[in-house]
Amino acid sequence: MAEIAVLGYGTVGSGVVEALWANQYNIDRKASQPIRVKYVFDVREFGAPIDKLLTHNIDDIIYDNDVRVVVEAMGGVEPAYAYVKEMLSRGKSVCTSNKELVAKHGAELLTLARDMNINFLFEASVGGGIPIIRPLNSSLAADEITEISGILNGTTNYILTKMTKENGDFNECLQAARQMGYAERDPSADIEGFDSCRKLAILVSLAIGKQVDFENIGTEGISRLTQRDVAYANELGGTLKLLATAKIDGPGVYARVSPVILRGGHPLAFVNDVYNAIYIKGKIIGEVMFYGRGAGKFPTASAVIADVVDAVKNLNRNIMHFWSTEKHEILPYGALKTDRLVRIGTNDAGKICQTLNTVDNVTFIKLFGDEIAAVIPDAANDAYERIVHSLAATGGDGRVISRTAIEGE
Ligand code: HSE
Repeated sequence: MAEIAVLGYGTVGSGVVEALWANQYNIDRKASQPIRVKYVFDVREFGAPIDKLLTHNIDDIIYDNDVRVVVEAMGGVEPAYAYVKEMLSRGKSVCTSNKELVAKHGAELLTLARDMNINFLFEASVGGGIPIIRPLNSSLAADEITEISGILNGTTNYILTKMTKENGDFNECLQAARQMGYAERDPSADIEGFDSCRKLAILVSLAIGKQVDFENIGTEGISRLTQRDVAYANELGGTLKLLATAKIDGPGVYARVSPVILRGGHPLAFVNDVYNAIYIKGKIIGEVMFYGRGAGKFPTASAVIADVVDAVKNLNRNIMHFWSTEKHEILPYGALKTDRLVRIGTNDAGKICQTLNTVDNVTFIKLFGDEIAAVIPDAANDAYERIVHSLAATGGDGRVISRTAIEGE
């Protein structure tokens, strides 16, 4: 029998315990032995039946040699990092859903697990219930990955879908996402793009085998988007998505997280609601897509339990690739050319239209109230920013309301 401990009894932790109990027979069969929760660690109090397993003292778990696998579902970097490090250095494998922890300390914790001949597993840290870490670690291991693009945040995709399909109000949609257990405790991590950014950093680090610091990935969220952006996306034959993209060209890695208008031909354009999808291009395999529920209690719990089963089956064998602590530079994605939509505030429509006439190939000029929207085709960031600033200064009132890349046919 394998006895495990669960750190944190929030959405994910409670999902893991409940799913382990509900699917005990199947899970035990796959693990080839019974898996039982011996401890739940949390600072809060809970009633039956968790009260019998509950401890407020982390030492109960640290010093219990019968516990060889620990689930970390506390979220945040501290104290999760200190606890996980302690567990690993005492020979306990750790399975976590904590993307902040993996993005920040993944290289170090993977190395520690490898040195201890145990496992640090984090399938649930990216894409909720979608298997993506395992494929990158095993099935795609032979390939050289050239692109990873994904809708990696369920909350923002849920909000953008409701804004698009139901004219939903941003704040009401965010509230609904929180009630469904999709959003982070501090939802600015979702709506400002940081959650997607950390997940992208994890995927790229795994693909290239080196540490990518998420702080170096240009990141813009969806909090500034309004129904006007939705309407423009629609008129341009696309749909608004928060896209996390990395293009890998030998040592050059370009990455960004930003709102993008995806036209119908783009493989991620149809991914709606809480669903996430990850599109990967490899030199040998070509294109592959992974699709499923990207957030929520049970999809995430299912990915954690898959790791628990693997950890239990490989108690004394390290099965994960590791990425080195050597840092890999991230190049600004804006260096790559793409079509871009800009919305600029104006108090002199005539003058800003005159300025726009001097810009080559500019299309889709729309005046609406005190703003103008235009598409600047095939521009790299520098050229685009120069145009945006000259527009904002000549006919514009200084406000650049939003900037959105356009992708797909
Ligand atoms: N807040 C995250 C999301 C949870 O909405 O995708 C899953 O990582």
